[in-house]
Amino acid sequence: MILVTGGTGLVGAAVVKELVSRGKQVAVMSRSVSSVAERFPGLDIDALQGDVGDRASLAGAFANIETVVNCVQFPNSPIENKGKGWTFEQVDYQGTVSQVAAAKQAGVSRFVYVSGVGAAADAEKHWFVSKWKAEEAVRQSGIVHVILRPTWVYGPEDVALNRFVGFARRLPFVPTFGSGQQMMQPIFIDDVGRILADAVDKQEANNQTFEAGGPDRLSMDDVVRIALELAGKKRPILHQPAAIGKLMATFLQVLPGPPLTPDSIDFITNEAVADNEALERVFAPKLTPLREALATYLP
Ligand SMILES: NC(=O)c1ccc[n+]([C@@H]2O[C@H](COP(=O)([O-])OP(=O)(O)OC[C@H]3O[C@@H](n4cnc5c(N)ncnc54)[C@H](OP(=O)(O)O)[C@@H]3O)[C@@H](O)[C@H]2O)c1
Repeated sequence: MILVTGGTGLVGAAVVKELVSRGKQVAVMSRSVSSVAERFPGLDIDALQGDVGDRASLAGAFANIETVVNCVQFPNSPIENKGKGWTFEQVDYQGTVSQVAAAKQAGVSRFVYVSGVGAAADAEKHWFVSKWKAEEAVRQSGIVHVILRPTWVYGPEDVALNRFVGFARRLPFVPTFGSGQQMMQPIFIDDVGRILADAVDKQEANNQTFEAGGPDRLSMDDVVRIALELAGKKRPILHQPAAIGKLMATFLQVLPGPPLTPDSIDFITNEAVADNEALERVFAPKLTPLREALATYLP
């Protein structure tokens, strides 16, 4: 049995659907079991309750599992909410440590972890350090593992690129923070789902870390322009300096559920490009060009 933790999320659901389509037996762990049936109507999937902050619940969810695919991240990422414990440190890092401990206890034989491109011990930004520490917990676990570091994942259900298209439907312009010149290499969700499903079986990938980006490398503005073009919405992109965004966010972050934090402005203006060399060598994945992928779901 393969357990996908965070299986109700963007990346997790893609892996779940791909694994089921390959005839695999799949269980999904969620903080709320009922949301699993709602997320996957008609699919034959086991729904298990578990919260990475509750080790007893993980012990229950991980029993009799051979492979774990960890797709958990804190709700509303990258906007941290320290009061609720929704942070990179608490959920992405500590939540992975808890899952590794539960996996060892349960005798799990394979652990696939979805990290992110940019993860590094000496990174300037704390989210990259948390991801690195989570990777290290997996690497030091003694369990056979595969770590995937995607760039920016987009698809019909993403809440990032679709937000720009949403702005274009309501406004005569598309607002964005920063210069829009940072380089991006967005990767289509279906491609990520296939790579992760491959990682469940692929012995050549054992104990390795792979960066994964799409076939197009272009500026953030160009990504947004192509999405707007395919959505049939010609709009100018209105750049707000990141410093203004951070100033606004400094005031907004005192709210109980802040819509922005200064860190989240840095997060969304980061570049996200990958070195696909190891990925190509081991997985030889089909990577869908941006226009072709967007055309499958944008009107
Ligand atoms: N999206 C991207 O562009 C992107 C890019 C690079 C890397 N990644 C990485 O890919 C992974 C998945 O990202 P995503 O975009 O798919 O995230 P997502 O859509 O926000 O889904 C995250 C999942 O985590 C689960 N979760 C949250 N808190 C939890 C907790 N305390 N205990 C157990 N489960 C919890 C949620 O499930 P329930 O609500 O059902 O409990 C949710 O389905 C993350 O590691 C992320 O860093 C994503």
